[in-house]
Amino acid sequence: MKGTLPAHVGIIMDGNGRWAKMRGLPRIEGHRCGEESIMEAVRVCSERGIKALSLFAFSTENWERPEEEVSFLVNMSREVLRKRLEEFMSLGIRLRHLGRRDRIPDKILAWFDLAARVTAGNKGLNLNINFNYGGRREILDAGLRAAQAVKEGRLDSREISDFRLRDFLYAPDLPDMDLLIRTAGERRISNFMLWHMADAEILITPVLWPDFRREHLEAAFEEYGRRKEVAESDYGSLRR
Ligand code: IPE
Ligand code: IPE
Ligand code: MG
Repeated sequence: MKGTLPAHVGIIMDGNGRWAKMRGLPRIEGHRCGEESIMEAVRVCSERGIKALSLFAFSTENWERPEEEVSFLVNMSREVLRKRLEEFMSLGIRLRHLGRRDRIPDKILAWFDLAARVTAGNKGLNLNINFNYGGRREILDAGLRAAQAVKEGRLDSREISDFRLRDFLYAPDLPDMDLLIRTAGERRISNFMLWHMADAEILITPVLWPDFRREHLEAAFEEYGRRKEVAESDYGSLRR
């Protein structure tokens, strides 16, 4: 397959609840079946040499869900890490948790930390698990940390630009998001990576997350490549 590939892909993995409901199953079954979609996305991005993949797994708003569902999702994140760490290693994946640490139980954080530590030296796909993540909160946290740096004399306030503020984000080395995919047809951003998606192409698919497989992601990449090609031919000559 030809065409420009996105460097950083973000996915709002939505529709697990609807997928389960359609089958008369409890919502958590939708989350459980979404794991295979996660692994497929990770494998495809690895194979294609994508630099970064950010998966929205749990938002700061998702704590409002019923206790049983919250506890399933929290524990599932640990189970996925426990079960898949070996495969992540063999794919050369560098895994990181993006989000607030507060409210996440210590035993779950320990797994996020372990996975990050073990994979830190890997040179393949940067896999970000956005858990207890809010886009506004990330920007606010960056602002607070920059203010602290000014107070401690490590940063001159006259030097703060969007370029410098990036240094205070959760993962400063992460490139801008080129392609944002949302499954299950919803046309919302839902407080995902607001800073990174400033210039992202948005692709919304009706496919529910547990049904989102290799072919859907490949199709998304093709669509991205087509859009870039059009942008190049329409405006490319003007830019030069
Ligand atoms: C996405 O699926 C998973 C999370 C938000 C954790 P949903 O659980 O939001 O599924 P729907 O939107 O109810 O179908
Ligand atoms: C966004 O999905 C968050 C995640 C995918 C983790 P939601 O289903 O929680 O978002 P809303 O409620 O539709 O905005
Ligand atoms: Mg939803």
